[in-house]
Amino acid sequence: MAIERTFSIIKPDATARNLTGAVNAMIEQAGLRIIAQKRVRIPRNQAETFYGVHKARPFFGELVDFMISGPVVVQVLEGENAIAKYREIMGATDPSKAAPNTIRKAHAKSIGENSVHGSDAPDTAAQEIAQFFAGNEIVG
Ligand code: CMP
Repeated sequence: MAIERTFSIIKPDATARNLTGAVNAMIEQAGLRIIAQKRVRIPRNQAETFYGVHKARPFFGELVDFMISGPVVVQVLEGENAIAKYREIMGATDPSKAAPNTIRKAHAKSIGENSVHGSDAPDTAAQEIAQFFAGNEIVG
């Protein structure tokens, strides 16, 4: 199976509750390696660009406001089938529909404040990683 990279965000609801380590433990237990990580506040214009695909959705404003409301931890994860594997351990977007033993089932508060983001495909993973990390910040 191919070694892939995916992009992850530990969102403001999780950093506010001091859950970075708990989320990272679930990531590492699943066999993914955290090969880049930094804690940042996302500027509004960067959040709007990052979630540009959702611009027409009714929740866009709320989503951007939430993502800039506090610190986030941005990460690059590496491993076999990393994109699908991370989406599996994150669980469904809506935590009430998330499977047991997933990050969102364990920690998310709502569909908006859902603790983590993970890329959905190889092209978006590459784009999202490049929005937050220079090549020399990623150490595989
Ligand atoms: P994420 O994986 O970061 O990608 C887009 C985000 O939009 C998603 O997680 C949710 O946090 C958010 N989102 C999706 N649907 C809704 C909704 N109905 N209301 C508020 N936020 C939403």
